[in-house]
Amino acid sequence: MRVYERLEDWRAARRDMTGSVGFVPTMGALHRGHASLIERATAECDHTVVSVYLNPTQFNNAADLASYPRSLAADTAMARDLEVSAVIVPSYAELYPDDFRYRVEEAGFSRELCGAHRPGHFTGVLTVVMKLLNLVRPDRAYFGEKDYQQYELVRGMAQAFFLDTEIVPCRTVREADGLALSSRNAVLEPDGRRMAPRFHCLLRSEASDAEVRQALARAGFEVDYVETRDGRRLGAVTVRGRERDVRLIDNVALYAPAGLPT
Ligand code: PAJ
Repeated sequence: MRVYERLEDWRAARRDMTGSVGFVPTMGALHRGHASLIERATAECDHTVVSVYLNPTQFNNAADLASYPRSLAADTAMARDLEVSAVIVPSYAELYPDDFRYRVEEAGFSRELCGAHRPGHFTGVLTVVMKLLNLVRPDRAYFGEKDYQQYELVRGMAQAFFLDTEIVPCRTVREADGLALSSRNAVLEPDGRRMAPRFHCLLRSEASDAEVRQALARAGFEVDYVETRDGRRLGAVTVRGRERDVRLIDNVALYAPAGLPT
């Protein structure tokens, strides 16, 4: 496995690569959720490429970016254990030679749900994913259903711009208590960590969206939204802490094929 910090080196290596390429874009602080995407890629492709890039253009909150966990040494060690071929760790200067003047914007769904609460967030996501897909030119790119709106928007972008990459959705990996794994869980304070599993538990309950919103508020969460669309209930909440607040998102298929919420 090689770690590429310079895009020139990565692009030269990519030109020499033969066989199918699977790609897992990440912002680092890798956990078992990321590992499940990487494992799927290695099972399905000859090479797996992982990017670790904490993308500033998708953060609309400076404190959130500042407190985002960073663990590059552990991330590359995990990638090596999972038999990844290449890890790319670009710099802002190289990835954004245009200083974010050129953007990929979706004018509908990206403004709803998380987009309504984080203006510009999905423009940052789609722009960086487009850049990374062009740099990696993968046959398949793997995205977690944990970030369902992101997955939908990336899939739509790939279709709209005739990209040759298949966008593959992967199931959400959870803790035993139901909390979806997330890099941000690492910065939850003990009280917040104790209440966090209630979020998933209420999302999958049979109560209406409005009842779930009320129950979440009673449990101490600050609710951004809880909405059901096409048989999937999506939500975002903030857990208030003494030192810092942590925003959590999650979603459940209410009518999964097996008849059980996932
Ligand atoms: P990040 O939050 O690091 O997530 C990278 C990928 O891992 C995403 O596709 C995300 O959905 C997936 N993932 C995270 N937690 C998961 C879990 N518990 N189960 C399954 N998959 C999980 O999402 C991003 O980074 C960024 O927006 C990115 C796409 C890299 C663009 O900057």
